[in-house]
Order: sequence, then structure tokens, then C-alpha cells
Amino acid sequence: MGIQRVGVLGCGLMGSGIAEVCAKAGIDTTVREVNAEFLEKGMGRLEKSLARAVEKGKLTAEDREAATGRLHGTISDEDLADCDLIIEAIVENVEEKCRTYAALDKIVKKEALFASNTSSLTITELAMSTGRTDRFLGLHFFNPVPVMKLVEVVRTLMSSDEAVAAAFDFVRAIGKEPVAARDNSGFIVNRLLVPYLLDAIRAFENGVGSVEDIDKSMQLGCAYPMGPFRLLDFVGLDTTYYIANIMFEEYRETRFAPPPLLKKMVMAGRFGRKSGRGFYEY
Ligand code: 3HC
Repeated sequence: MGIQRVGVLGCGLMGSGIAEVCAKAGIDTTVREVNAEFLEKGMGRLEKSLARAVEKGKLTAEDREAATGRLHGTISDEDLADCDLIIEAIVENVEEKCRTYAALDKIVKKEALFASNTSSLTITELAMSTGRTDRFLGLHFFNPVPVMKLVEVVRTLMSSDEAVAAAFDFVRAIGKEPVAARDNSGFIVNRLLVPYLLDAIRAFENGVGSVEDIDKSMQLGCAYPMGPFRLLDFVGLDTTYYIANIMFEEYRETRFAPPPLLKKMVMAGRFGRKSGRGFYEY
């Protein structure tokens, strides 16, 4: 099954990135937001990112025009009826996601695949809100989406081999590398990354080193592009706290337990780059 038309739900940081890579890869892409204001903001972010790619010489002006021509914004579910694949990147709220899927399940053609970009919720639970559990998967992208090469393709007990194969083909068609992950909380990357980030906070709390020195150590000692505190600020402390709580609840292992400092920083509104202050100031 070739995927020619994609519907992206949500035009936030992840949704706009996903829409951008799809449109650049020649796929007709419709982005749905909940209201005109969010749509305008999201499409603005998308256009800015495409313009930056042209400025950096990564995209020609003609290719940008072509990508823009393939991008459509909407606030109406009906405009997604003909899509071959729906990728959802809305707020990490299980009720909201299930409500959205249930509504779209009635509108979008029955052979289409549904995928969620959730980083922490169970794909199985989301799939159960639809009548297409065999065509329901996780497609987990990484921030910044235009740069990060990986997409985790998450299958549930119910996903069909055909759906998984179609998802792998799609991921390659948009220039990304797929890996197969089971529907376990955190999949592969967050299962390893989140304990590492939490451990960096614990190391700092225990006086092992300063924020700057811990970051410098991992950057220069292990050639990580960012140290753990820069990455925490980049991902968002609120997001990390949220994911850690879900993973801790799932596995009941202390390595997933959010350290007290993380909780206090979230309470204090220090979410990282998005709020202007996290472990660093912006
Ligand atoms: N959109 C498009 N391109 C971008 C971008 C963006 N938002 N941010 C950076 N880039 C591009 C730049 O244009 C540049 O490209 P060039 O080298 O061809 O000119 C390249 O990425 C490097 O950018 P910069 O030179 O501006 O800055 P850095 O070298 O510091 O790189 C970074 C920035 C790519 C973000 C790098 O620091 C990095 O890879 N950090 C780690 C990111 C990471 O681990 N992401 C995963 C987070 S976990 C996640 O998403 C899962 C979730 O569930 C929590």
C-alpha cells in the first residue's frame, strides 16, 4: 500500500516537523488543528522552518515552493477523509487522543493507517478507541524532527504485518530510518534516555559535579551533541517529568522515578527553553 496522502493531527513542535518532512518528501500533507488561531501559528512555524532550510542551502527555493504547495491546513476532520495515513501529534492526554481517534475512525477511509507520535502513552489503549486496531501503530519521531533520522515504528499485539511493512516503507520514503519497537512504555529510546536524564539530575543533587561540568563531561567525553541538562531543557522539564511518571507507574522501577529537584523545577515553572529558564537561562 503506497502512502500518498498524509493527515497530521496537531501543528505544534512535533506535528509541524512531521508535516514538513512529509511535504518535502513529495507527499500531499494536510495538517489539522483544533482552531484557526493554533493552525495559523503552526503553519507559520512550518513556513519559517522551510525558509530557514532555504537560507541554509538545504532546500532550493523551487523545492520549498513545491513543498508548500503540498501542504494544506484545516480545522475540519472531513478534509482528512481521503488520507492513506493519519499521524497524530496532539496533546499527551489519553482521553483527548481517544476522542479524536474515535471521531476520525468514522470519517477517514477504512483502509487508512492510524499512527500516534505519543512518547509515553500505550498505543494499544489508543488503538482500542477505533475499529481498525490491526491498522494502528506508533510512529515516534524525535525533536527536532527535520534533523533527527530515527522513527520508532511501534506495533501492538493487534497490528498486522501489512500495516507494519507499510509504515516501514513510509518512514524510508520520508528519508528517515525506522526501527521496530514493541508497545512498551518508552519504546526503545525513552526507555534508555529517560533514566539517563533522571540520573544526571540525581548526580547533580548528590554533588557529583556542576550542571555545566556534567554537560561538558558527556559532550566531550562521549561526543553526545548535548549534555543531559541542555537536553532536559531542550525536551522540556515538564515533558520529561510527565514521561518519567508514566514510566514509573508502568514499571515500578526506581530508575524511572522523577527526582525531587525535577518535580520542584516543574512546580516553579522552570520548564527549560520553552519557558526561558530550566537548568540554564535563555
Ligand atoms: N529544525 C531544522 N533544522 C534544525 C533545527 C530545527 N529545529 N535545529 C537545528 N537544526 C539543524 C541546523 O540547521 C544545523 O544544520 P546544518 O549543520 O546542516 O547547518 C544542524 O541541525 C545543527 O544545528 P546547529 O548548528 O544550530 O546546532 P547544534 O549543532 O547544536 O545542533 C541539535 C542542534 C541538532 C538540536 C543537536 O544539538 C542535537 O542533535 N541534540 C540532541 C537532540 C536530541 O537528542 N533529540 C532527541 C530528544 S528526545 C525526543 O525527542 C523524544 C521525546 O519523546 C522526548
